[in-house]
Amino acid sequence: MKEPLFLFRGINKTFAESQVLLNVDISLCQGNCILLSGKNGTGKSTLLKIIAGLEIPDVAEIVISGKSESWKKTITEVRKAIIYLHQQPLLFSGTVEANIAYGLRFTSLNIKQRSESVKTALAWAGLTKLAKQQANTLSGGVQQRVAFTRAWILKPKVLLLDEPMANMDHESRIQACNLLLRMKSAGMSIVITSHVLQYFDGLADQHFKLKHGRLETAKVSKKKESPAA
Ligand SMILES: Nc1ncnc2c1ncn2[C@@H]1O[C@H](COP(=O)(O)OP(=O)(O)O)[C@@H](O)[C@H]1O
Ligand SMILES: [Mg+2]
Repeated sequence: MKEPLFLFRGINKTFAESQVLLNVDISLCQGNCILLSGKNGTGKSTLLKIIAGLEIPDVAEIVISGKSESWKKTITEVRKAIIYLHQQPLLFSGTVEANIAYGLRFTSLNIKQRSESVKTALAWAGLTKLAKQQANTLSGGVQQRVAFTRAWILKPKVLLLDEPMANMDHESRIQACNLLLRMKSAGMSIVITSHVLQYFDGLADQHFKLKHGRLETAKVSKKKESPAA
């Protein structure tokens, strides 16, 4: 495998004396997709949040280009390259295009460039026809697709998806997987937590099960070229 963009090493996390993560290592590589499964309460969300800088570990290191630093020292810089998406898409009241454009306000793009970028993103996600709709009136599956697109437009190096399929029907799951496959092909590093494992054939390169605070390597199926095939 290629050299990781970021290697999170030796992650430990305790909540009220209960050890949730025990010396967990996870490598985030360009164009690689990790599927993370495990029973409820095993620490999947906690792990993603530590990677995203949203939860503080008891101890952890981050290795970049072979150089190791403490999580605390490095995370502020690293988190700029990482987007964490909640299970429930957190959309703002407003149209689909306004939601997708939101993050661009913090970039150096001018209004014309932002508008072009939103147009491209809408087309990329098959959302052009829904551009003027109020985002919060759409189905859970479409809202999640809007949330993916809002993340994609910012071109993060790493995308962390926490139970993205939970509120989707079969059709939406297939559409979502196709978007994720294209994100991966474009070089994004993706980590997904999910209970519904069958959708990730051909998408996930690695599968880990979180059990008793540790990551166990699990089987990954690569039989399909595309989830829609
Ligand atoms: N902020 C918190 N305060 C206390 N306990 C927490 C907190 N967040 C998570 N936990 C506990 O840590 C464990 C792992 O939670 P979580 O990471 O949400 O698991 P999963 O995503 O695998 O369902 C659970 O026992 C949960 O109750
Ligand atoms: Mg969770």
